[in-house]
Amino acid sequence: MAFPPQMLHADSWRAMMGDLSHHFGSDASLDEKRRIAITDFLVANANGRKTGTTRDAAGKPLLRITETARFAKKHREIAAATFQRASIKSPANCTACHRQAATGDYSERSINIPK
Ligand code: HEC
Repeated sequence: MAFPPQMLHADSWRAMMGDLSHHFGSDASLDEKRRIAITDFLVANANGRKTGTTRDAAGKPLLRITETARFAKKHREIAAATFQRASIKSPANCTACHRQAATGDYSERSINIPK
């Protein structure tokens, strides 16, 4: 599933796309033409809000959507134990609950939290 560009700040996408050979433990390297085209798309559609919450304590851009303030705010009613259920495993497993996430639909009517 591809994440919607609005979920991260442009600085985060630039940092991520600038180091694809170390992409959360995988080598996701692309040829330069495609890397630049995808980076441009992500940056152009990124979360443009200047909230000061898009970087970690050391000032580096956050690379994980689940570490952003927006994610925490939208999911504050979900217990940590829920995210750890065998059917979910991790907050990063968006599609476990957002059944239409692959189409960019995160609306409430498409949410179904598995038991
Ligand atoms: C355990 C189930 C679960 C997982 C996993 C999960 N979410 Fe959610 N998410 C929810 C629920 C429930 C809400 C609705 C909160 C509300 O509206 O009160 C929500 C709300 C949202 C919203 C706000 C939707 C809106 O219309 O306001 C977004 C965006 C979102 N989630 C993105 C994500 C992304 C991206 C991931 C993965 C990185 C993710 N979620 C993982 C359950 C989950």
